[in-house]
Amino acid sequence: MKKIVVMISGSGSNLEAIIKACNSRKIYGEIVFVISNNPDAYGIERAKKYSIPIKIIDHNKYSKRDDFDDVLVKFLDDLDIDLIILAGFMRILGENITQKFYGKMINLHPSLLPLYPGLNTHTQALNNKDKYHGISIHFVTAKLDAGPLIAQGKILIKAEDDLEKLIARIHKVEHDLLPKVINELCLNNIYLNCETHKVMYSDKLELKMSPIYFNN
Ligand code: GAR
Repeated sequence: MKKIVVMISGSGSNLEAIIKACNSRKIYGEIVFVISNNPDAYGIERAKKYSIPIKIIDHNKYSKRDDFDDVLVKFLDDLDIDLIILAGFMRILGENITQKFYGKMINLHPSLLPLYPGLNTHTQALNNKDKYHGISIHFVTAKLDAGPLIAQGKILIKAEDDLEKLIARIHKVEHDLLPKVINELCLNNIYLNCETHKVMYSDKLELKMSPIYFNN
């Protein structure tokens, strides 16, 4: 079983989806720690509910970004983990940490990258009257939301979608696709070739890079 760390900053609904998938053996792995940079994140309560160890590393306590990253690296090093999932983790990580865990750290982002890196992705999709919106799961590099893409989930934006409805539909896609991708990573059916920067997929895998359409 692979040892997984999930990093969060807020509500943690994706964390809970991952926990449930681990508990029902839909993910061949176990969450050994949840790390939050926000001491008030609701995700901490969710982790507690399932008795998962929690580490809070409050970024406000560090005046420099690198100091926060160094503490994080030290903590992760001691855990000796296989996979780090950024699931609603809202801090930018620097070169040091992203290089060290290149190929082991993935991020969930609520847009069809390369569209809308950064914040307010749903608002941008609505304001631009986009036909589609979606989510991306990618390996993390120091460049924000720009690492090698693993999988994307896509939905048609409906006429009745306001911000709240769109976010709820996007969450559904995330809760479905993220645990599936994590499981394939745990089984080594997906991995990153760190020299070519290419994401490799086992032949038998249906889950590949072309966006998967969700009809929710
Ligand atoms: C998710 O929608 C995730 O895609 C997004 O934050 C939300 C966290 O929800 N992540 C980012 O915007 C990262 N750039 P959750 O806390 O309920 O899992």
